[in-house]
Amino acid sequence: MSASDQKKACGEYAMKFIERGMKVGLGTGSTAEHFVRALAAADLGVKCVATSEQTTALATGLGLSLFSLDELGRVDVTVDGADEFDAQLTLIKGGGGALLRKKIVAHVSDMIVTIADESKLVDRLGAFALPIEVVDFAPDLAVREIMAVAADLGCATNEARIRVDDMGEPFISDGSHLIIDCACGAIPDAARLEAALNALPFVVENGLFVGLSSVAVLGTDEGVREVTAG
Ligand code: A5P
Repeated sequence: MSASDQKKACGEYAMKFIERGMKVGLGTGSTAEHFVRALAAADLGVKCVATSEQTTALATGLGLSLFSLDELGRVDVTVDGADEFDAQLTLIKGGGGALLRKKIVAHVSDMIVTIADESKLVDRLGAFALPIEVVDFAPDLAVREIMAVAADLGCATNEARIRVDDMGEPFISDGSHLIIDCACGAIPDAARLEAALNALPFVVENGLFVGLSSVAVLGTDEGVREVTAG
């Protein structure tokens, strides 16, 4: 199966976690899009909250019932993609820039199902540059401090840079913040790095999701398989 077919297969497989009337968190990205389309087609009367403006537009167009997180309060199941994950189901997200809302929705979700093609499963996190959402104030200083924190925690950090869009302008997140992508190399301790980065006053949130997802649905050449935290 191509990566694209794997994404579709695991997005559709994730419907097994959804029951009629549930409150459902809608992820963001090309894999999550397959789930959102399958959810709309199933017509289960679910109440949804989206993790990005992109997914809001998709879900609205498909006729899903969208609510604010304030209205829902809690979420039964969130189904979302990842940029990288390991056997403990520690995730890196935010490659598309949607990490803040993803983490807020994850925070109030009873279950988080990660859906991904097999290229996303890695032995050690860090080959994918870690997205870090920062306020637009002294961003160059933020870059330097982020690199210092990552280096202190044993990452072979060699580069962090402010993300730009296709026009070469700073990328602006849904929350009106900047994103700094930090090439960490192998991350020895994701939980410590997540906490240390978030302790910097520049940082709004970072793309490490530790201990949040309890199951991953992995698309492989042989079909879909479930992975639970090892
Ligand atoms: C969005 O910001 C990201 O975290 C995506 O969830 C992640 O990049 C996965 O994207 P794909 O499903 O498109 O690979």
